Amino acid sequence: MSEQLSSRQLQEAAKEFGTPLYVYHAEKIKEQYGKLTSAFNGSKVVFFYACKALTNINVLKYVHSLGANIDCSSINEVKLALHAGFPPQRILYTSNGIGFEEIAEAKELGVNINIDSLSNLEKFGKAYRHTYPVGIRLRPNILAGGNLKISTGHDKSKFGIPVEQLDRILAIVKEYHIAITDLHIHTGSDIKDADVFVKGIDVLFDIIPHFPELKSVDLGGGFKVPYRQGDEEIDINVLAQKVKEAFDNHPQAKNLEIWFEPGKFLVSACGYLITQVNVIKETKATTFASVNSGFNHLIRPMFYDAYHRIQNISNPDGAEKTYSIVGNICETDTFAWDRTMNEIREGDYLVFYNAGAYGFEMSSNFNSRFKPAEVLIKEGKAHLIRKRDVMDDLLRNVVEI
Ligand code: LLP
Repeated sequence: MSEQLSSRQLQEAAKEFGTPLYVYHAEKIKEQYGKLTSAFNGSKVVFFYACKALTNINVLKYVHSLGANIDCSSINEVKLALHAGFPPQRILYTSNGIGFEEIAEAKELGVNINIDSLSNLEKFGKAYRHTYPVGIRLRPNILAGGNLKISTGHDKSKFGIPVEQLDRILAIVKEYHIAITDLHIHTGSDIKDADVFVKGIDVLFDIIPHFPELKSVDLGGGFKVPYRQGDEEIDINVLAQKVKEAFDNHPQAKNLEIWFEPGKFLVSACGYLITQVNVIKETKATTFASVNSGFNHLIRPMFYDAYHRIQNISNPDGAEKTYSIVGNICETDTFAWDRTMNEIREGDYLVFYNAGAYGFEMSSNFNSRFKPAEVLIKEGKAHLIRKRDVMDDLLRNVVEI
């Protein structure tokens, strides 16, 4: 049976810690990780949790305890990963558009690095030559992902070194004798179709023979999870099968490890944002239910037109009516328009599902509102893992003159 927190557990957490509140369910992360490891059982596959989705240190420690590796997108994420107990060899830093100082720092910390520009590759070669094995992030020119804002592999994307610049990569690698041990691609987020990964593999197979020191091929993350009822998750078993077949058909790739960097797949469904309704406002156009949150806490609906399932857990048997769920910040912050919900009363708890990935992580203090607290429920016990902001947090780095 699929792991899920009950309305009772969510209401208890809301009462104990207040709202708005992010709640994460450890066993759901474990369940998702288990799906990956069992589907790829027997293959030389390594999973790096793309921690940009959710970096609370307790979540990182939990993911570490499951046996996963970790993928970072900034030097600070690398430092958080080290703090959480990941050894450097299990940390991957997939950079994009960063200054060379950060790459140098990552090298000093001893982590795996994927370089995504010719300019940094050249600086790396000049500085370290053959002494530090490194990976290259390629742009495969594949359009994939739920929407353009989260597509990263297409031919207008800033990410990675375009594959058509292979000659220039090879010239730099040759000049400085750089040991290229990993080739990386990541085409986007919310990918349902396993064939996208096979397409990526096909692009890489043409390139692999140029890199005799290669040890791994990194296919990135982006596994789709369901956000709406009736939505499908990417079929991990089909993906595993197709990836295995593709590698079996290419003898030159036989000894390579296959790396993946799942973010949403591991932590999207484990997260719940619990809000409370401040005001019900009837208008000609719609009935608004304004909650004590906004895009300052969950930006996905406004930023990506993302759909999040919302439920009134205070009134599960209430008559169904249509509401538009909005926030309380001084901007249009529509979470859902004309959504059928159980009758909503002021004070009711509305829960946003799939809030674990890119929820708290993309939150802000806009309107000088506090960021929510975070709670981790593990083995049935609720642990506060981040305090709600207080006034001092808003003033902490301000210099009064
Ligand atoms: N690897 C790399 C290099 C990435 O850039 C990303 C996501 C991932 C792995 C993990 O992708 P995932 O498995 O989580 O789909 N904020 C957006 C998603 C942006 C993803 C950015 N990169 C959203 O909330 O939909």
